[in-house]
Amino acid sequence: MKVVYLSLTGQTRKFVNKLGMDLLEITPTDPFITVDEPYIVITPTYEKEVTEILNDFIETENNQSFLKGVAGGGNINFGQLFVFTAKDLARDYNVPLLHSFEFQGSEVDVKKLKKAVDDLGFN
Ligand SMILES: Cc1cc2nc3c(=O)[nH]c(=O)nc-3n(C[C@H](O)[C@H](O)[C@H](O)COP(=O)(O)O)c2cc1C
Repeated sequence: MKVVYLSLTGQTRKFVNKLGMDLLEITPTDPFITVDEPYIVITPTYEKEVTEILNDFIETENNQSFLKGVAGGGNINFGQLFVFTAKDLARDYNVPLLHSFEFQGSEVDVKKLKKAVDDLGFN
C-alpha cells in the first residue's frame, strides 16, 4: 500500500517515515500526480485552503478509485476540530478514517495504523 501525504512543518513526514511503506509527498508545486495502485492519504490538519492540494491530487485522473483510506495528524488542543481535515476527506470520498494521531505520532500510533491498513486486505 502506498502512502500519499502532506506535511508543512515536518510532523507528518516524521510519522510516515516510521511506517516503512512506499511514500509519495504532495507539494503545492505539482499535486497533479497520477497513481495506478492502492494508496492511503495521511494528512495534517489545517484550513481547507492549505490542504486542498490533496483534493487536487485525489481528483487527478483515476486517483480517487485507488484511494482506500485516510489517516490524520493534529493537535488535540483543537478540541472538536481535532483532525478535521482527515475526517472531511474520509467523508467526502467515502473511505474509512483509519487512524488519528498527534503530531509525529507514537510507536503505538504506527502499530495501529499499520494494523488498520493490513485489515483493509490489500498489501
Ligand atoms: C495554523 C495551524 C492550524 C492548525 N489547526 C489544527 C486543527 O484545526 N486541528 C488539529 O487537530 N490540528 C491543527 N493544527 C495542528 C497541526 O495539524 C499538527 O501540528 C500537525 O502535526 C502538523 O503536521 P505537519 O508538520 O506535517 O504540517 C494546526 C496547526 C497550525 C500551525
